[in-house]
Amino acid sequence: MKKPILLLLQILLLGFDLVNFSCGEYAFIYSGFAHNNITLDGAAMVTANGLLDITNGSTRLNGHAFYPIPLRFRNFSTGMVQSFSTYFVFGIQSTYPSQGFTFFIAPSKNLSSALPIQFLGLLNNQNNGDMENQIFAVEFDSIKNIEFQDINNNHVGIDINSLISVNSYPAGFYNDKDGNFNNLIITSSEAMQVWVDYNGDIAQISVTIAPMGMAKPLKPLGRAIHNLSIVLSEMAYVGFSSSAGRDNTRHYILGWSFGLSSLAPSIDITNLPKMPRFGPKPRSMVLEIILPIATAVSIFSTGTIIVLLVRRHLRYSEIREDWEVEFGPHRFSYRDLFHATEGFKNKNILGIGGFGRVYKGFLPVSKLDIAVKRVSHDSKQGMKEFVAEVVSIGRLQHCNIVQLLGYCRRKGELFLVYEYMPNGSLDKYLYGQEDKLILTWSQRFRIIKGIASGLVYLHEEWEKVVIHRDIKASNVLLDAQMNGRLGDFGLARLYDHGVDAQTTRVVGTIGYLAPELASSGKATPLTDVFSFGIFVLEVICGRRPIKEDINGNQIMLVDWVLEHWQKRSLTDTVDIRLQDDYDVGEATMALKLGLLCSHPFADARPKMRQVMQYLEGEVSIPEDMPPHLSFEMLTLMQNEGFDSYVMSYPSSRTNHSVTSHGSLMSALSGGR
Ligand SMILES: Nc1ncnc2c1ncn2[C@@H]1O[C@H](COP(=O)(O)OP(=O)(O)OP(=O)(O)O)[C@@H](O)[C@H]1O
Ligand SMILES: *[C@@H]1O[C@H](CO)[C@@H](O)[C@H](O)[C@H]1NC(C)=O
Ligand SMILES: *[C@@H]1O[C@H](CO)[C@@H](O)[C@H](O)[C@H]1NC(C)=O
Ligand SMILES: *[C@@H]1O[C@H](CO)[C@@H](O)[C@H](O)[C@H]1NC(C)=O
Ligand SMILES: *[C@@H]1O[C@H](CO)[C@@H](O)[C@H](O)[C@H]1NC(C)=O
Ligand SMILES: *[C@@H]1O[C@H](CO)[C@@H](O)[C@H](O)[C@H]1NC(C)=O
Repeated sequence: MKKPILLLLQILLLGFDLVNFSCGEYAFIYSGFAHNNITLDGAAMVTANGLLDITNGSTRLNGHAFYPIPLRFRNFSTGMVQSFSTYFVFGIQSTYPSQGFTFFIAPSKNLSSALPIQFLGLLNNQNNGDMENQIFAVEFDSIKNIEFQDINNNHVGIDINSLISVNSYPAGFYNDKDGNFNNLIITSSEAMQVWVDYNGDIAQISVTIAPMGMAKPLKPLGRAIHNLSIVLSEMAYVGFSSSAGRDNTRHYILGWSFGLSSLAPSIDITNLPKMPRFGPKPRSMVLEIILPIATAVSIFSTGTIIVLLVRRHLRYSEIREDWEVEFGPHRFSYRDLFHATEGFKNKNILGIGGFGRVYKGFLPVSKLDIAVKRVSHDSKQGMKEFVAEVVSIGRLQHCNIVQLLGYCRRKGELFLVYEYMPNGSLDKYLYGQEDKLILTWSQRFRIIKGIASGLVYLHEEWEKVVIHRDIKASNVLLDAQMNGRLGDFGLARLYDHGVDAQTTRVVGTIGYLAPELASSGKATPLTDVFSFGIFVLEVICGRRPIKEDINGNQIMLVDWVLEHWQKRSLTDTVDIRLQDDYDVGEATMALKLGLLCSHPFADARPKMRQVMQYLEGEVSIPEDMPPHLSFEMLTLMQNEGFDSYVMSYPSSRTNHSVTSHGSLMSALSGGR
C-alpha cells in the first residue's frame, strides 16, 4: 500500500525518471541535470545546458550533489546491504593538475565538516578513517597524495570511511578483444563512462571505466571484496563530491543512473549535454584538422609561389653588372620588354636584320611605341664598352636619328630599344616592295638631306665624333612624316671590339664599304661619307648597290652611274618609276654628289658639312671633280698584284674578316 503512494509522490515531487520500482528494487536516471531535482551544495551547480558542475570553477570550495532522498540500502528482513549498481558519465576540465572527485554513499547530506582539496570535500583530518563515517566512495583522483598513500596521479580508488583507498587502480580499461590494458587520463577533458557495482551476496565491489561510446568492458578495472553490510547506514544518500585546488577546474557529471537491488538503467549517451569547449579542445580541433590543412595549403602555395618565382626569375632573368649602375636610366627590365612585345611574339616581328630580329612593342606606362632589336651576343668581351657607347648614343638627339632609348642584357642576348618608326625602312619603298608607295622626288631629296643632316650632327656637332659604320637604305627608317632617320647605331661597334692582331673584323655592308675600310678595318667619318654616297645613288636610282647581270657578273651601282656621267647621260640613271617627274638640277647635283662621296680615295671625298652645303645649294659641285676610279679599274689593278677585297665579296651582307696585310690605299698611293 505504501509503495505505490511513495512512487506516485516521488514522480510528482522529484520530477525525474524512476524505473523498476518493485520489491525493494529502486532506480533512477539523470539524462543531464536540467530541470531535474538534485540537491546541490557548496560550489556545485547545474549549467544552463544541464551539466552537473561539482566545482563551478571556484578554488578551495567543496561541492556536493545528492540524489535528493535517502535510499534504503539494507534489506528490511535480512539487514544486509543490498546489491546496487550505478553508471555515470563524467568529464574533468582542468588547466592545472587538480583534485578529482568521488562518487559516494553517505548517511547524511551534511558534509559541512568536510575539508577541501585532498579531502575531496568528503572527509576531514579528524574523521578520516573513522568507522563511524559510514561512507563508501569511489575516488577518481588526479593528484598523488602521499598522506593518503595514493599510487599515482591518475587513479581510481575504492574508499571505505577513509581517503586511504582499500584498493586503487591506475585509470584505464581492459580491451575486450585482447585483454590489453589501455590507459585513460581522467583529467583529459574527454567524457568517460563509469560503472560501480556491488554484489551484496558476495560483498564484491567492481569498478569499470571506459571512454565514451564503448560498451562496458567485460573485465572490470578493479574488483574487490568489501562487506558493505558492516559499512553503510540503513538509509543513505548517494552523490558526488569534489573540491578543486586551483582555479578553473571543472568536474562535470553528464548523466547518472542508479539501481538499488537492480542494474543501473542504461542511458542514451547521445542525448547527454555536451561539455563546453575547453582550452585544449578547440586547439586540438585546430591542430588536428584545420592546422594540417592550413599547413598543407600554405606549403603547397609557398611551393607554387617559389616555383612561379623561380620560373619568373628564369623567364625574366637578366644580366646586370656593377658597372651598369651608372647607366641605370638606360637600362630596361627584361620583364617590361617581354610584356611590351607580348612575349616576343612572331606577329610582332617588324623585320629580320643581320644582327637579329626586331620586334614592335608598346610601353604602357610611358605610352610609347618601341622597336626592340634582339641580338644574340655570347661574348662578354667588349660589353662594357659597348653598353657605354649605347648609353652615349642614347644621348644623341636629332630629328634625323632614330632615338635609341636604352638596352637590356640577358644571358647570351642583348636588347636594344628604339623609337618606333611607323613607316618602316626606306629600302622597302625603293625596291617597290609589296604595296608600298613609290617615293616622289621631293620625298627622296628630303630623305637624302635629312640623312646628311643627321650625319653632320654625328660627325661634327656632337661632343665627340660618332661614326655610324652602316649607312644604307635598310638602316634608314621613315617616321610618320616620311622623314628619313638613321637607325641601327652602335651594333657595328659591338662587333668591332675584341680585335686580334692578325685579323680585323670589318663591319658594314658589302657595296657600302669604303676601300680603305676593307683593308685597314679602321672606320672614319670618311668611310661613312663613302657609304652615304652609295646611299644617295641608291635613293635616286632606285637600285641596289650591287647587281648581277645576266652573265652573273656583279655590276656596281657606282660604276654604272660613273659610266653614264662620263657619257653625259647622268639623268638616265634616275629611277624610272619617277616617270621623269623630278627636278633635273637637284637630281644631277645629287648624283654627282653621290659619286663624289663614294670616291675610292678618302681624301677626294667631301666632309659631311660640305655635303650639306651642296645639298642646300649654298655651294655648287665643282665641275672638275677628281677623276673617279671605277671598281672595274680597281679590280684590274688588284688583278695585277694588289690584294683583292672588293669583288670577291659574297653578294649578301657580312661580318667578314679581311686580313690587313695588303693595304690597297698604300698600294695605290705607292703606285702613283
Ligand atoms: N625603330 C624601328 N621602327 C620600326 N621598324 C624598325 C625599326 N628598327 C628596325 N625596324 C624594322 O626591322 C627591320 C630589321 O631591322 P634591322 O636594322 O635589324 O635590319 P637591317 O637594317 O635590314 O639589317 P642590319 O642588321 O644590317 O641593320 C627593318 O628593316 C625595319 O623594317
Ligand atoms: C526535490 O526533492 C526534495 C526531496 O524530496 C523536495 O523536498 C523538493 O521540494 C524537490 N524539489 C523540486 C523542485 O522538485
Ligand atoms: C530482503 O531479502 C530477502 C531474502 O534475501 C528477499 O527475499 C527480499 O526480497 C529482500 N527484500 C528487499 C526489500 O530487498
Ligand atoms: C560557485 O559557487 C559558489 C558557491 O555557491 C559561488 O559563490 C560562486 O560565485 C560560484 N562561482 C561561479 C563561477 O559560478
Ligand atoms: C552539519 O553538521 C555539523 C557538525 O558536523 C553541525 O554543526 C551542523 O549544524 C550541521 N548542519 C545541519 C544543517 O544539520
Ligand atoms: C557481511 O557481513 C555481515 C555482518 O557481519 C555478515 O552477516 C555477512 O555474511 C557478510 N557477507 C559476506 C558476503 O561476507
